[in-house]
Amino acid sequence: MKAGEVRRKKIGIIGVGNIGTSILHGLRAADMEKGREDRKIFISDEKKEQLRVFESDSGIEICASNEEVAKNSEVIILAVKPNDVRGVVEAIAPFMNEGGILISVAAGVPTSAIERDLGEGRKVIRVMPNIGARVGESVTAICKGEYAGEEDEEIAEEILSAIGAVYVVKERDMDVITGLSGSGIAFFAMVIAAMADGGVYEGLPHDLSLAISARTALGAAKIILAGDKPSSIKQMTASPGGTTIRGIYAMEARGVKAAMMEAVIEATKRAREISGKSKM
Ligand SMILES: NC(=O)c1ccc[n+]([C@@H]2O[C@H](COP(=O)([O-])OP(=O)(O)OC[C@H]3O[C@@H](n4cnc5c(N)ncnc54)[C@H](OP(=O)(O)O)[C@@H]3O)[C@@H](O)[C@H]2O)c1
Repeated sequence: MKAGEVRRKKIGIIGVGNIGTSILHGLRAADMEKGREDRKIFISDEKKEQLRVFESDSGIEICASNEEVAKNSEVIILAVKPNDVRGVVEAIAPFMNEGGILISVAAGVPTSAIERDLGEGRKVIRVMPNIGARVGESVTAICKGEYAGEEDEEIAEEILSAIGAVYVVKERDMDVITGLSGSGIAFFAMVIAAMADGGVYEGLPHDLSLAISARTALGAAKIILAGDKPSSIKQMTASPGGTTIRGIYAMEARGVKAAMMEAVIEATKRAREISGKSKM
């Protein structure tokens, strides 16, 4: 089996909202790119009208119920809101195939809670993507539950790689990753917008300022992912008595670093609160 090749041919997605749709588009794009026609994706959602846009895609089958998705699929991706997880899991449990894998994207719902509702011995993988999935740039953390094996984790990794980078982590790290990445993408969006406002304040047209701000963030991210440290970007940019060090002084004076750290810490705390509730 080649790396990146999906081993399971029948995949179900329950809940085709923000994340479910992104995963669906990512999987279809990956299949088309590889010329794969042997995989079928079964989908269901409470909002039936949301599914109609997929009617003309021969690789997608719209199901009348979640139970029908469960019957048809070897791997089920559960992409409903955390509060809806328990009800859906209990309803599909009798219909899941032997050896089937349930991948949950729900924030703050531990694998143990899903296993309890699905039944002992069932394979559960928990994943935390982010909305970067819309453009194939999700950062997705994945971990396995008690009964899933490494091969199941690999299957999930292959599927989720259709929407971006995947990291295999320990379940205890899921809450901080929810804060850092699941929520964190919104923090970066706010920073990009705030810097763009600075440009507008100084006279740039809004669209131009926003595009330049976003591309500046992208450049910083790419340099760091290529292996340079954030401090080296600072060093390469901040000349003595220059513009960058003046801006950095303003940021430090306002406590921007502490505020950004706190955003992640608070988001993580909230994820832990939600996880605590899900355990009950
Ligand atoms: N959005 C993010 O940035 C993000 C990031 C990481 C993880 N997640 C996780 O991803 C999950 C989905 O989030 P989302 O933002 O994609 O939510 P969403 O846009 O609300 O999508 C969920 C979809 O599931 C449908 N649904 C609700 N109950 C259902 C049921 N019983 N059976 C079938 N479909 C049902 C919803 O329909 P109705 O609207 O009619 O209820 C909606 O269309 C959540 O658990 C969240 O924690 C989200």
